[in-house]
Amino acid sequence: MLANHRLLLRVFLCILVVFVTWIALSTRGAVETGESKTYAADAKLADGLASWEQVSSVLTSPRCINCHTATNYPQQGDDRHRHFANVIRGSDGKGVPGLHCVSCHQESNADSTGVPGGHHWHLAPRSMRWQDVNDQPLSSAAVCRAVTDSSKNHGLDGPGLLKHHEEEPLVLWAWNPGRRPDGTVRTLPPITHAEFVDATRRWVEAGTPCPPGR
Ligand code: HEC
Ligand code: HEC
Repeated sequence: MLANHRLLLRVFLCILVVFVTWIALSTRGAVETGESKTYAADAKLADGLASWEQVSSVLTSPRCINCHTATNYPQQGDDRHRHFANVIRGSDGKGVPGLHCVSCHQESNADSTGVPGGHHWHLAPRSMRWQDVNDQPLSSAAVCRAVTDSSKNHGLDGPGLLKHHEEEPLVLWAWNPGRRPDGTVRTLPPITHAEFVDATRRWVEAGTPCPPGR
């Protein structure tokens, strides 16, 4: 009888030890997965923000920003001076009668005259401006907010922006910008088109995060 009791007690203790260990291990496991999940999310956000800075370095470079102005004219050159001949945007960004963009800008670069060209050459609407009215580029945070605001960008979501960066002829032009009237070759954006697309993809995969600030 006594021996039986002892055996029962032992079995009970054993079960208790196993149970307590199991609880301890499983809660520690839970805490660990929780932590690694937050860690993974933080890393993805950090990667997304770093990728955005690369994207933004292209958007605010002269080949792009010269068409994304806040004023009523396009700009030219790396110093982003006002377009010659008093060219103005007109109501739809395509110039005004007598001075339409496409009367000079063809489907491709005309290197003999120095007029750059690309499909459907015209100015981006003011809602897509990446500089202020004094021609100063907006902060990376402000450009990010403008680009991700679908009421300002004709409804483009993350995948839409990625496709635009991959395929849009006026975007591709920036990496094949031709010669200026004085014969010199126009400078390129700070990173290659492949790097730009890759950075956009990472930023989109991270959920198009924007840096804080104005
Ligand atoms: C010749 C002028 C021109 C050049 C150069 C140009 N763009 Fe644009 N961009 C436009 C126009 C016009 C639109 C508006 C298209 C539309 O009607 O939806 C636009 C729209 C966009 C949009 C979508 C709207 C937004 O602001 O979210 C993005 C993104 C964009 N451009 C990126 C670029 C990048 C990147 C470059 C340089 C690599 C570039 N563009 C160079 C004219 C230009
Ligand atoms: C009278 C002809 C003419 C008209 C009209 C014209 N352009 Fe140009 N554009 C030129 C020439 C020439 C250049 C090259 C100037 C240079 O590189 O020094 C040029 C350069 C540019 C550039 C500079 C590219 C760069 O990054 O340096 C942009 C952007 C541009 N034009 C946009 C426009 C837009 C938008 C319109 C219509 C609203 C327009 N142009 C109307 C002749 C014209």
